[in-house]
Amino acid sequence: MGKTITEKVLDDHLVEGELTPGEEIGIEIDQVLTQDTTGTMVWLQFEALGLDEVQTELAAQYCDHQTYQFDFKNTDDHRFLRSAAGTYGAHFSRPGNGICHNVHKENFAAPGKTLLGSDSHTPTPGGLGQLAIGAGGLDITVAMGGGAYYVDMPEVVNIRLEGELGEWASAKDVILELLRRLSVKGGVGKVFEYTGPGVETLSVPERTTITNMGTELGATSSIFGTDERTKEWLEEVDRPEDYVELQPDEDAEYADEIVVDLSEIEPLIAEPSMPDNVVPVREAAGQSVEQVMIGSCTNGAYEDILPAAKMLEGREVNKKTEMIIAPASKQASEMLAREGWTAELMAAGVNFSEATCGACIGIGHVPGSDTVSLRTFNRNFEGRSGIEDDSVFLCSPEVATAAAIKGEIIDPRDLADELGDLEDPGFEMGTGYDREDADLIAPDEAVDDELVKGPNIGDVPLKDPLQSNLKGEVLLRMDDNITTDHIIPATSDILKFRSNVPKLSEFTLSRVDDTFAQRALDADGGFLVAGENYGQGSSREHAALCPMYLGIEGVLAQSFARIHKANLFNFGLVPLTIDEDDYEKIEQGDDVQIVDDVGEGVRSGATEFTFRVNDEWEGTAHLDASEREREILAAGGKLSWTRQQYDES
Ligand code: F3S
Repeated sequence: MGKTITEKVLDDHLVEGELTPGEEIGIEIDQVLTQDTTGTMVWLQFEALGLDEVQTELAAQYCDHQTYQFDFKNTDDHRFLRSAAGTYGAHFSRPGNGICHNVHKENFAAPGKTLLGSDSHTPTPGGLGQLAIGAGGLDITVAMGGGAYYVDMPEVVNIRLEGELGEWASAKDVILELLRRLSVKGGVGKVFEYTGPGVETLSVPERTTITNMGTELGATSSIFGTDERTKEWLEEVDRPEDYVELQPDEDAEYADEIVVDLSEIEPLIAEPSMPDNVVPVREAAGQSVEQVMIGSCTNGAYEDILPAAKMLEGREVNKKTEMIIAPASKQASEMLAREGWTAELMAAGVNFSEATCGACIGIGHVPGSDTVSLRTFNRNFEGRSGIEDDSVFLCSPEVATAAAIKGEIIDPRDLADELGDLEDPGFEMGTGYDREDADLIAPDEAVDDELVKGPNIGDVPLKDPLQSNLKGEVLLRMDDNITTDHIIPATSDILKFRSNVPKLSEFTLSRVDDTFAQRALDADGGFLVAGENYGQGSSREHAALCPMYLGIEGVLAQSFARIHKANLFNFGLVPLTIDEDDYEKIEQGDDVQIVDDVGEGVRSGATEFTFRVNDEWEGTAHLDASEREREILAAGGKLSWTRQQYDES
């Protein structure tokens, strides 16, 4: 039987298991990336492993989330990260050099290779044929130590693209259309593989916009094959030698096929506050817009900013609207500056930010209360912009710029009719990418050879091996779709403590209940209860690490988001699924006891555990875990388990 692109790459890297959907496989990792909010813990854990150097072909440490360094803790973290990259042999990208996915895409991403990254949008370079997966920091640590990455073999779904995008429709609209059809849960356990005649009409930057937001579908990864457009891109970034041919076999079998006719795609917009809340722009038109932002790892490339520049040529941003451009890489900023576009945009009333995640996680450019902000980003979860009552819409650069000109949401086709002389800027590939990146420090240029730790950088907490008896109070009962932003908010005032777990833990679930952290510490153990899709959002491992530090033993939920569930295993918290009836009955404050011997059950492969609530009623909780995940849980987490492995070998 023929193979899909995904199966071909996985087959080349398979070290354990078989490519049967749902079965756990172990794969070798060629490249890893980390960013500054997840990287500090990755390197502290790497230090705890006791190895001298990174074992993967390539490792890269980016500083993109906290680049404003408004607190010495951020700067100390960046110094620590530079010292860790130098000490252990990773590339180091300085703060302000750009967002990890974009800098990685420009400098290192290569078709046919595997990439594991401690950021949920790691699948971005799938647009050029790299099989890239987002994971928790501890998985990155282990991969850097030469260990395999374990994941359930996903189903491979064929997204067949036909036709060609019409006027004013863009790659962003393609992924918004998929979100509209499939929802934020539509990709769980799947890789989306893009094929069909429409593929060749899309360039690599357009493809990476689509693969980037595959994360919002909940997908394990998204990937395109390689072709002339991939070659064109690799030549543009001066890495033609990285090209390899990668196409599915003619008789490849897919779990499912979804057809998208590109010619039928129209400008779309995701309304507040979920990326799948997608409607045609015309349905949202007329709302006054106070802020427009172009940037992020989704639409912050040079090729995303150029359409805005062309649309604003000879025009001005509406007086009631602020427009900010945050290029996703300094490379993009440089190209815009060299070509004179920066000055043109500034003259039109646009402000520029440094190349950073920034506003995407509520750092800078926080919208005013109860005002509309249009952003080209990938997420609009409530409060993520830095204010609880935000009203963030997600759209393409063309739709965002049309709103900036009009001062209200408007379909760019209607604005073009209104103005008479506004033309669809179309897509234009950037030229002038410069391989010599002064802000990217290669291992052989390292300036440090030992770790530099400031006072805010603490130790890695470890958990005891799993006990036999698990019992405690339901400390919090939550609804569906609790995100990692709810568990540990990503705002700057909080994330500066990411290397200081006791302090950071004080903010755990504070957006749901600000008494939670103290109650958990006082109770010395207990459970979390949640509805569907618990832990959706990012790969933030602190969302498992902090509850672990507070003494939480397990989470009873109707379902879990993939990366977060892996993080719960990694930090020794038992993720148990319960059915809807039991979920409805459990209340906050209830006493829960797992009746069976949990330690023994986890070790022996038990999949069902009886739990008793308030000594009044019983339910059944399910544990879906591989043999390896069971060993990790039993050891008290992955770090302890990995050290055990080194001791045994
Ligand atoms: Fe950064 Fe936002 Fe992307 S935080 S990595 S720009 S999703």
